[in-house]
Amino acid sequence: MMNKSIWLVMLAFVFLVACSDDSAQSKRVNSVSHDRWYNQSMVKQGKELFQQNCAQCHGAFGQGNPDWRQPTAEGRYLPPPLNGTGHAWHHPLNQLRDVIKNGRGPDVPSDMPAWGNTLSDEDIDTIIAWFQSRWPDEIYQAWNRSGH
Ligand code: HEC
Repeated sequence: MMNKSIWLVMLAFVFLVACSDDSAQSKRVNSVSHDRWYNQSMVKQGKELFQQNCAQCHGAFGQGNPDWRQPTAEGRYLPPPLNGTGHAWHHPLNQLRDVIKNGRGPDVPSDMPAWGNTLSDEDIDTIIAWFQSRWPDEIYQAWNRSGH
């Protein structure tokens, strides 16, 4: 009888340790500030700025237009996803800053507006932080490894 309850206590203990270990791990996996260049307060600010300025074209979650790969009849491109499923991760940070600040033109006819007059460099960085926070770790690491 005595032995049994000791085992029960030990089992409960092992169970507790296993559970807390688990949640620590999933926290680590979900953490977006973990070895990324931005912090959580930037992500929070960027989320709002994105909803106000970018969501109407790129979607509330940065999912883009499903037909972004095909040019329209006029040869223009629809807003691509920024959530890690498009090709935004091929662009170094400075290129991302540049396309947001200056738009895509003038050489390419494009509906991507220039935001340099509306948003500060800091604002733009918080928006990039927000959409990069939606990139899965593999995508972020691939972006990181390509040297920027
Ligand atoms: C009026 C619609 C519209 C709005 C608003 C808009 N975009 Fe875009 N954006 C586009 C289009 C269209 C493209 C594709 C341009 C092209 O390739 O010709 C694009 C491209 C981009 C790219 C390049 C992505 C890549 O994979 O090459 C980034 C980054 C981007 N937008 C960020 C933003 C951000 C940040 C905002 C808000 C500050 C924003 N856009 C607001 C339409 C828009």
